[in-house]
Amino acid sequence: MEPTVVDIKDEWKQGAGLDEAGYAAWYAQSLQDPDGFWGEQGKRIDWIKPYTRVKNTSFEPGNISIKWYEDGTLNVSANCIDRHLEKRGNQTAIIWEGDDPADSRAITYRELYEEVCRMANLLKERGVKRGDRVTLYMPMIPEAAFAMLACSRVGAIHSVVFGGFSPDALAGRLEGAASSVLITADEGLRGGRKIPLKKNADRAVEIAGKAGQAVDTVIVVRRTGGDINVVEGRDVWWHEARLTVAAECPPEEMSAEDPLFILYTSGSTGKPKGVLHTTGGYLVYVSLTHQYVFDYRDGEVYWCSADVGWVTGHSYIVYGPLANGGTTLMFEGVPNYPDTSRFWQVVDKHKVSIFYTAPTAIRALMGAGDEPVLKTSRKSLRVLGSVGEPINPEAWNWYYRVVGQERCPVVDTWWQTETGGILISPLVGATKLKPGSATLPFFGVVPQLVDNEGKVLEGAADGNLCLTDSWPSQMRTIFGDHDRFEQTYFSTYPGKYFTGDGCRRDEDGYYWITGRVDDVINVSGHRMGTAEVESSLVAHPLVSEAAVVGYPHDIKGQGIYCYVTLMEGVEPTDELRKELVQHVRNDIGAIASPDKIQFSPGLPKTRSGKIMRRILRKIAEDDFGALGDTSTLADPGVVDDLIGNRQNRK
Ligand code: PRX
Repeated sequence: MEPTVVDIKDEWKQGAGLDEAGYAAWYAQSLQDPDGFWGEQGKRIDWIKPYTRVKNTSFEPGNISIKWYEDGTLNVSANCIDRHLEKRGNQTAIIWEGDDPADSRAITYRELYEEVCRMANLLKERGVKRGDRVTLYMPMIPEAAFAMLACSRVGAIHSVVFGGFSPDALAGRLEGAASSVLITADEGLRGGRKIPLKKNADRAVEIAGKAGQAVDTVIVVRRTGGDINVVEGRDVWWHEARLTVAAECPPEEMSAEDPLFILYTSGSTGKPKGVLHTTGGYLVYVSLTHQYVFDYRDGEVYWCSADVGWVTGHSYIVYGPLANGGTTLMFEGVPNYPDTSRFWQVVDKHKVSIFYTAPTAIRALMGAGDEPVLKTSRKSLRVLGSVGEPINPEAWNWYYRVVGQERCPVVDTWWQTETGGILISPLVGATKLKPGSATLPFFGVVPQLVDNEGKVLEGAADGNLCLTDSWPSQMRTIFGDHDRFEQTYFSTYPGKYFTGDGCRRDEDGYYWITGRVDDVINVSGHRMGTAEVESSLVAHPLVSEAAVVGYPHDIKGQGIYCYVTLMEGVEPTDELRKELVQHVRNDIGAIASPDKIQFSPGLPKTRSGKIMRRILRKIAEDDFGALGDTSTLADPGVVDDLIGNRQNRK
């Protein structure tokens, strides 16, 4: 089917001023003269000491080194707050919309300044210094943003752990980052349900302590007032401590290449990796993309519905919008509480102009029909964004037609935790749209498609997506493991950064991301390593072996399909199936809940013992015709068993 093209409408063009030709000219310049282009763009943020050197990067095997603006100095929180005070002190910086529709709050830039300074002073009082790691385990409340900005103010490195992760997962991240300070809340609130954050945090601190990582400070924000355990000397109530510290705190002068944050993300092997981002290039890039991709205009309300626990929350709730002096909306709740109109009620309530969400939410709401959307006005909306996973054209069209009334362009933004900011996306007013395509690369971004042998594919082609050169918000390393960084991203196709994504380029040069080609799956826009779920399953005493793959899921994009071989003599029962699901949830968190478990006496393996996941993926998809070559299997009969047994999966 020939994809439809949505032409650029006149009313989309009135913002940042770039049109199609403008985009093409800037893009060409960004490739011909990266130093000139980024040298100029770097001026959009305030430097304490201006840089003289712009790009200094190498993708050469054995010497992977990424530095931008390396001799410049700055402070990120001062860029996101202080420099706006004169003009925007009374402008709302953060609109907070609570889980309960009756709960909301507006925080001006002046108030943001004071709260962040207080939090920074509290951190200092507790001994936090430049370079120290501070872990956040927070609900979606403004204090999460205060804490991130406070870390950047004192030069500490934050590591935000999504509030849906289990105590074990949090403990692993405390250990990995060698973090002795944790900021959390008594409880979170989502869809009317309480999440016992402090209780989980207590347990995580205990686990980390046993593993040798002592946590000596736990700052607790009071959100629900629920009962919690307070450890004298270790735990500090934020609402009490904030009254005892000054509302002024001078920002630390940081180098452009000093770390800003670590964010753990899943890969195809091993434990989650601590992706490390630095200050200068990151801030330039996220503020530039926030302005041009969404065409952010002064005074508008911008809303990204992600959680601050993910990179989208870092770059496009906190750092990009605030660096641009914008008004950013933070939403604590879920799309279907109290009912499925909630997103659009929030849009109307706060006059949101730009709305950025994930395809999984769009698909779920599409399933509830048009009526919950149509009963709201959405008149303020001007731009719609999508992120996190491929958006199927049907969901794209519904978003465009029903939510946006065919007035609002949909920007489908492709990027990753590792890339720090948006790399492939339309720019509002400058890019013709094709439903389902992330369209064209942002300035300075050079995508390349290669086949499995690394041969470069030209023109219209389908292959593995690489990037041949650096951009300012690229991750710099894996925290504490530069070799793993090189191994993970630069060894598959030497000389290039390999994204792990498959991608098609059409005859117009438009990019269509087809999904991961490695053992990473994308469940409701959350990234999950199949290896993590497998290692959780095999840690259960009754499980002998497990293999986990993704399969197409109507709402979640991909679901988690587990093949489980039980210990000799153990009966496969529904009870056991439930127990295994609970086991994985306890171990990792609810986002890793298996959707289907198929008990299987054997798994398809090569003669050298490698599990052939390709076959397992096909069986999970019910695509038996395309199993491919099974002759290298040690026991080809296993495959027939698996197909025959799949009626028993649940
Ligand atoms: O597979 C791609 C998918 O999400 C992966 C990155 O996940 P994460 O690091 O958690 O970051 C998500 C938010 C940036 C990518 O490798 N992905 C992300 N955005 C898109 C996408 N796939 C298709 N289209 C997108 N717009």
